Formats: sequence, C-alpha cells, structure tokens
Amino acid sequence: TTEILTDTFGRQHNYLRISLIEKCNLRCTYCMPEHGVPLTPKENLMTSSEVVEIAKVFVKNGVNKIRLTGGEPLLRKDFSEILAGLAEFPVQISITTNAILVDRFIDDFKKYDLRDINVSLDTLNPEKFNTITKRNQFDKAFENVLLLIKEGFNVKVNVVLLNDFNENEIINFIEFTKNNAVNIRFIEFMPFSGNSWDKSKLVSYQQILDRVSDKYKSEDIISIKNEQNFTARNFKIKDYAGSFGIISSVTNPFCDVCNRIRLTANGKIKNCLFSTSETDLLTALRNGDNIEDVIYTAVTKKKAVRAGMDENADFEDLSNHHNRSMITIGG
Ligand code: GTP
Ligand code: 5AD
Ligand code: SF4
Repeated sequence: TTEILTDTFGRQHNYLRISLIEKCNLRCTYCMPEHGVPLTPKENLMTSSEVVEIAKVFVKNGVNKIRLTGGEPLLRKDFSEILAGLAEFPVQISITTNAILVDRFIDDFKKYDLRDINVSLDTLNPEKFNTITKRNQFDKAFENVLLLIKEGFNVKVNVVLLNDFNENEIINFIEFTKNNAVNIRFIEFMPFSGNSWDKSKLVSYQQILDRVSDKYKSEDIISIKNEQNFTARNFKIKDYAGSFGIISSVTNPFCDVCNRIRLTANGKIKNCLFSTSETDLLTALRNGDNIEDVIYTAVTKKKAVRAGMDENADFEDLSNHHNRSMITIGG
C-alpha cells in the first residue's frame, strides 16, 4: 500500500514541485532581484540522477503529480534525461516555463507524455515584454505559445498583474481565449525576497473581476467549478474556446486545500511556498540517511496557512520576511 504524505491538518501531499535550476534566460522584475541571486555552487545542486532518486521516494509515498520549475527548467542541459527518468514513474508530469526554448522540446514532451504546460507570459505587447523581462524575446515566446496550442498541449498562460503596467491588458488576454483553447490565469503579485513588492502594485481578485464585468454581460461570464486542489478560480466567456482564471494568493489564499510540497534545485524541501525554514534533503541523501523520514518530518512541520502567517495578516509584513527569491523557488 502507498503511504500518503499527510500533515497535521490532514492535507495529503500528492503534488511535488521540483525546481531544476536557479538560472533563467529572462529577468522578470517580479521574480528575479535586480542584481540577481547568489548562485549555489554546482556541486551543491541535485544531479539528474539525484532528482530521479529523490522523486522516486516521493512517488513511493503517494506523489502522483510532479511539476518541473526553475528558474527556467529547459535551460538544464540534462533536462531530457531527467524527464526520461521521471517518466518511468506512475505520475502526471507538468512544467512551468517561459516558453522561449519549448520548440526544441516538443518531441521530448510528446515522447514522455508531458502534456500540461504552464507558460509565463505577462503581456501581449512586445515593448512591455522587453520592459518586464529585460530581454527582447516576445516573438519567440508568443510563437511558442501558439505552437504549443497547435500541437494540442494543455496550455495555461500565467499573467502576473501589476498596476500601471499590464492591468490594462486583462481584456486583451481574455479576447485571446476567444479562438484559442488556452486557460489564461491572472495572478496576484506576491512578495518575495528582492522583488520590491508593494501593495500599490497589486491588482486584486476583485479588481480583476470588476474589469471583466465592465466589459462583458454578466450572463456571458460563466463560472467554472473549481478543480480539486485548485490555485485558480476559473471562468469563461460564453462561446469562447478558452477560459480564464484568477490566482488570489494574497487576498484569498487557498491553503486549506494545499497538496503541494517543493524541492529546490539545491535539494531543500520547502513545505510551503512561503516557508523560511527548509529541510536539507540532498545532504541527507548524500549522507546515506533515510530520506523518507526526513520528508515526513518536513511535512509534519507544515503550518496551516502561508507558512504560519495569520490568514488576515496584512501582506505588507511579508516583504521583510526571509524567504528566498522567487527565481530559486519556482512558484
Ligand atoms: P497547476 O498544476 O496547473 O495547478 O499549476 P499551478 O497553478 O500550481 O502552477 P504554476 O507553476 O503555473 O503557478 C501559477 C501561480 O500559482 C504562480 O504565481 C505560483 O507562484 C502560484 N502557486 C503555485 N503553487 C502555489 C501554492 O502552493 N501556493 C500559493 N500561494 N501559490 C502557488
Ligand atoms: N507573484 C506571483 N507570481 C509569480 N511568479 C513569479 N513571481 C511571482 C510573484 N512575485 C509566477 C510566474 C510563473 C509562476 C511559476 O510564478 O509568472 O509563471
Ligand atoms: Fe500551500 Fe503554503 Fe501555498 Fe498556502 S501558501 S497554498 S500552505 S504552499
């Protein structure tokens, strides 16, 4: 029988997010600090075989969904090797990527049955793309999104909304779902180390819905039932091919249904996106310790809401909390 990683609140953790790399080929300001992050020395990062070995223990303990993140996961030279290793397990494999390199991996994705691809694309405007990513690659990213849709992948587009930057593109993104079978997710800007979070930049769930109801008739805005362990509350416009959702981690956290556990590229378990204390699984593995015990201990320490914050706490408090930068968590 398979054990399931259950925390003290009864939440079962069947979803592992593995960050494969700390580097990225873009420089999104809400994710990477302006002066970058100190990179972990290579010898302290998980090798491809260590990733697979650790994942195997999670799978034995009930994980049936693995999402690969980064940095940009496709920058890992041994990405295909890791994918091949994970594909041996009875898991649904997914990835979160900026799409710049996906055209090179279409065959691998198909070969190893990786169908769920979440793409970070915050704007449909090439100049704004340059501003937010500090790289001139809008065409490549956008073409690759279209390619993924054409190839029949299950594509979600992540749009982190920032006031006075891309909040005026909400309707453009929804109109993109008219003829394209994608799910656009508008994401509330979350505070992480070095990302200059400020409440005034946040576009809230309610503000997003207000924009939507200014534009569309209420009977045409159809609410879609939540997925199990959802992050997004989803909607669609009547007769549109795709759908859209809102991820409201700030104004309306979904921690009560959390089934996620994270592994960083340097082999630390984060039992919550916002946890400041981590568990060093890679060193335990290299020391020959029983890593199953280490994993259970980390799960047991998980707090009810956002790593122990008061659910109603003002999010301003978080900017001074010593979490990692998003670039090394992977979302
Ligand atoms: P699905 O597997 O498709 O549900 O993916 P996802 O939405 O969990 O993952 P993705 O990597 O696309 O992340 C989308 C947004 O959700 C990002 O802004 C993440 O930081 C955020 N997110 C993902 N997981 C969590 C979580 O456990 N807690 C919170 N608060 N936010 C999360
Ligand atoms: N707030 C919300 N979402 C973020 N992401 C990166 N940084 C932040 C942030 N500060 C999103 C990216 C990516 C996903 C994994 O996390 O858009 O798609
Ligand atoms: Fe889970 Fe932490 Fe995200 Fe809440 S904030 S949903 S507990 S990972």
